[in-house]
Amino acid sequence: MTTLDLAPSDLKACCASFYANDWIGWLLGGSLHPGGEALTRRLATLLNPRADDLVLDVASGRGDSARILEESGASVVGVDLQVEGAPKGATAVQADAEALPFRDDQFDAAVCECSLCLFPDKATALSEMYRCLKPGGRLGIADVVLDVEGLPQELQSVAAYVACIGGAVDKERLMGLATEAGFVDLDWEDHREALVEYIEGAKSRLVGVKLAMGLGKLPLPDGLDVDGALRAVKRARELAEEGKASYGLLLGKKPA
Ligand SMILES: C[S@@+](CC[C@H](N)C(=O)[O-])C[C@H]1O[C@@H](n2cnc3c(N)ncnc32)[C@H](O)[C@@H]1O
Repeated sequence: MTTLDLAPSDLKACCASFYANDWIGWLLGGSLHPGGEALTRRLATLLNPRADDLVLDVASGRGDSARILEESGASVVGVDLQVEGAPKGATAVQADAEALPFRDDQFDAAVCECSLCLFPDKATALSEMYRCLKPGGRLGIADVVLDVEGLPQELQSVAAYVACIGGAVDKERLMGLATEAGFVDLDWEDHREALVEYIEGAKSRLVGVKLAMGLGKLPLPDGLDVDGALRAVKRARELAEEGKASYGLLLGKKPA
């Protein structure tokens, strides 16, 4: 099945259930984004939240970014389609990034790690972040970028979309969307090595799964196409090596 066969609401539901699955967490090496904790720390350093700041974490997943951002003393509100796995005590609201349930001009900073690529309507999601930020509020997006003419066939599956590669746009488009939403002072910091490392990790674990399945030691998780996933991972790795796929941090702010 390709993403073209699915309505945006079905794609969103696929994303939410994919990341709520512990098995997927294992496959991704325990972090739901490239660069793991180290890259979230880098994002936090660049955003520099202050002790009395209120920070919005869009598509907060298991709350990993919030935990790090809160080390500064800031308060973090997470929002995700799926909040069941959020840690106890964390503030996590179940909602769609394209329709944030917050009033205007409320947050000092907003982050969105490895998730904008999953939103079918990226322009609306960025406008929503802009709306909820106070004037002068900072934006920190970490995301996959993909610079190809036509999505390679191996990456056209729903699995490649929910795995953050099939729905990614190129860096210029991403910066353009942020500009159209109203953000200024945009800057991009590239971390392609984090994407390569992440892909390599997923590939090794997928090869392990395939071997274990061959030995009859692992029941196939429902609907898992290991060969299709391996083909997608191989293609994504090639694109990263060619400089056509990358990961990075997009910084910006809402004008004061
Ligand atoms: C790759 S994970 C990243 C999670 C977290 N930001 C992190 O880096 O650990 C993507 C997250 O996006 C969430 N998500 C996908 N589409 C969404 C949407 N339209 N609105 C809110 N959350 C969404 C998923 O439920 C999942 O938790």
